[in-house]
Amino acid sequence: MSDIENTISKLSLHEKISLLSGCDFWHTTALPHHKIRSIRFSDGPNGIRGTRFFAGVPAACIPCGTALGATWGKELLYQAGELLGKECIAKGAHARLGPTINIQRSPLGGRGFESYSEDPYLSGALASCSIRGCQSTGVQAVVKHFVCNDQENERRAVDTLVTPRALREIYARPFQIAARDAEPAGLMTAYNKDNGCHVSESRELLQEMIREEWGWDPLMVSDWFGTYSSEKAITAGLDLEMPGKTRYRGSLIEFAVASRLITEATINKSVRRVLKFVERARQLEVADEEGSRDCPEDRKLLRQLAANGAVLLKNEDAILPLTPKNGATIAVIGSHAKYTPINGGGSASLDPYYRVSILDGIKRAVGDGVSIHWEMGVFAQKMLPIVDSLISHPENPAGGVIRFYNEPWDGPATTRELICQEPLKDLYFQLMDYNRNPKLNYDLFYATVETDFVPDVSGLWEFGLTVCGTADLYVDNKLVIDNTNNQIAGEAFFRKGKKERVAEISLQAGQSYRLRIEFGSAKTSRLMQVGVVSFGGGGARLGAKPVSDVHEGIRKATEAAARADHVIVCVGLNSDYESDGHDRQHMDLPPNVDELVKRVLEVHPNAVIVNQSGTPVSMPWTSTAKSILQAWYGGNETGNGIADVLFGEVNPSGKLPLTWPVQMEDNPSYGNFGAVSGRVLYGEDIYVGYRHYDLVKKRPLFCFGHGLSYTEFELGQLEIAGNQIRLAVTNTGPRNGATAVQIYISARNSSVPRAPRSLVAFEKVSLEAGTSQLLTTSVDKYATSFWDESESMWRDEVGEYEIQIGFSSRDIRLRGIYRVETSKLWPGL
Ligand code: BGC
Repeated sequence: MSDIENTISKLSLHEKISLLSGCDFWHTTALPHHKIRSIRFSDGPNGIRGTRFFAGVPAACIPCGTALGATWGKELLYQAGELLGKECIAKGAHARLGPTINIQRSPLGGRGFESYSEDPYLSGALASCSIRGCQSTGVQAVVKHFVCNDQENERRAVDTLVTPRALREIYARPFQIAARDAEPAGLMTAYNKDNGCHVSESRELLQEMIREEWGWDPLMVSDWFGTYSSEKAITAGLDLEMPGKTRYRGSLIEFAVASRLITEATINKSVRRVLKFVERARQLEVADEEGSRDCPEDRKLLRQLAANGAVLLKNEDAILPLTPKNGATIAVIGSHAKYTPINGGGSASLDPYYRVSILDGIKRAVGDGVSIHWEMGVFAQKMLPIVDSLISHPENPAGGVIRFYNEPWDGPATTRELICQEPLKDLYFQLMDYNRNPKLNYDLFYATVETDFVPDVSGLWEFGLTVCGTADLYVDNKLVIDNTNNQIAGEAFFRKGKKERVAEISLQAGQSYRLRIEFGSAKTSRLMQVGVVSFGGGGARLGAKPVSDVHEGIRKATEAAARADHVIVCVGLNSDYESDGHDRQHMDLPPNVDELVKRVLEVHPNAVIVNQSGTPVSMPWTSTAKSILQAWYGGNETGNGIADVLFGEVNPSGKLPLTWPVQMEDNPSYGNFGAVSGRVLYGEDIYVGYRHYDLVKKRPLFCFGHGLSYTEFELGQLEIAGNQIRLAVTNTGPRNGATAVQIYISARNSSVPRAPRSLVAFEKVSLEAGTSQLLTTSVDKYATSFWDESESMWRDEVGEYEIQIGFSSRDIRLRGIYRVETSKLWPGL
């Protein structure tokens, strides 16, 4: 008998059931007398946060999913996965909740930034590398969210109506590729329903498709609070309910077994998988205490990742790279230059080891001989910037202090018992998983935050207070913002937050003001919101900045631009716009940003535009801008990575992993995005992303796979032998560089309608100027197959297929014929 079977034979039913749910927010249940240890999970896609949203240990932050997708770099993704594995070990975690490999059906998806691509092949191939890298460290990867979790609107309830063919060929395909090529140890089920049934209780998807058909047997973990039933979910194959304490298992399952609603044999199957997962972690030595490991090799890789994901969308007149002369001036314009976002929001967010803003990256790149002048132009963020500087407290010189109580503050005469306190490095706290002190009543508690704020500019300042729960801001003991009464629902804090309330006050530079926030945990709010997760303690966020006038800001920015030798305009979205819990309503940049760009281009037509967003935004000024760099959210090294590309230290090689539409109406999901009476129709079927634009012959703003370089490449000498493809790639330009060679297939005849072309292979090639390389690659049987709905199997049809090879989906340089000699029909991998 194996060790696992031996252990199972010794467990009582009660013990077995206890293993099927977490013991707290991040850990599985331990049974020490059976030598079964607890396993720690940690988020996730772009870094390892550890066990605490609040007062956590800082972490490495890699670029967001779309930025990684844009690298088309298998080796880089492996290294990034490996880095996250090492970060897990430092944070005491045995399993990484990631990568996220959903599909960007729409640019509006709130978590689109987390996933790699709109294309299932690119997504699956890169995910496999990331998973292999992570698992090479002994840390298990839990790939997520299976399946069709492609929007945030009503994400726990929405019923995705999707055809079996689109499900197989598009949405489940990245998971299938990862199962075949990387065997992740775990799978997280999605919150949503598919065709009438929540995924976490769909026997058809979990048991029949994944386990029986694909032959992949991962530990299936629910998304956090994404279990909706007791015996139904276990019978469907959902092994582990997370987080704990359990809501659907424990005594409910004991009762179900006693009532013969579920058999012990079914319980044993899930217990076996939990134990297998625990067993794999046995070899892994993780840190006892959560810690940091911020080392030079990691910084180097992080910088490489940030630069390699950047996509040069346009570069007329070879404006980039910039080569400022000694004594030159550069006007850097936009709030993104200073308040540079480095990752998206929600469960992917974390406290980074450090962050390099674009402004700092540029300053470092040009050195002292070039003068840099920053102008904000317009403030392009949804909420005011978090107060993270200009604050101090007698007990915490570079921040504030938060004190926790079980009773509310009730005026200056309040006496209450201080339960515990924590230092704050900024005025943002998210207490979802905060549970450090047994005396604090986590169901309903209060906190007081205090810090001394010394403004650096005199005049009117605006403060903005957002909260999940209730919160009031006092400045020198005077109530300035009330976000307790008459609250309005907002989007922050996983859409459980209240709308930011803003107040203006006049402050003197250099004078100290005492800021105090009186906070009540989530339950103190009378405004109930159907949010996406249960939100425990709640949280709050105080932002501040000097009041700015849009017209004045644009005027100052254009003046600076007119005077400067070079101009860089930094625009985009940030984690307030792209996060768990809500989708965007439109594709536009924040208010007044387009006007800023337009006006700057009028006075300085060579201005370079840098856009940071995880998903496409509309760019109505594209035809006048000569140079546009898409820079995503690039992690710790965002600013250095961008500067490396701007000044030619790195030759850009990123390629769009998704189609960039001119306008929202062009996107295939248009009219079918967001929940309508609890459902969303995936009406575009398999024509997701570029498949649609090619089908209807619509010109996107920038097509899938597009991305320029400072050098030129050519392709030649194509040979196709069986499924092997050989070709020569030459760097014909003046600089060393890299490019992603993309291989598409187009069916000449088919018994079913097909997309005009589909990506079936890609290779990134790095070449010195003037050199060539022979590239060999291959395609698999899925390249020419489709999901045959009448047989419920994959079908490869005999016939001729055109292989199209190029540098983007619309820049095809070589064509050849690929023959399938015999038809095949198969289920499984
Ligand atoms: C997210 C998951 C995440 C989990 C734990 C959920 O809300 O959907 O991606 O891993 O929370 O933070």
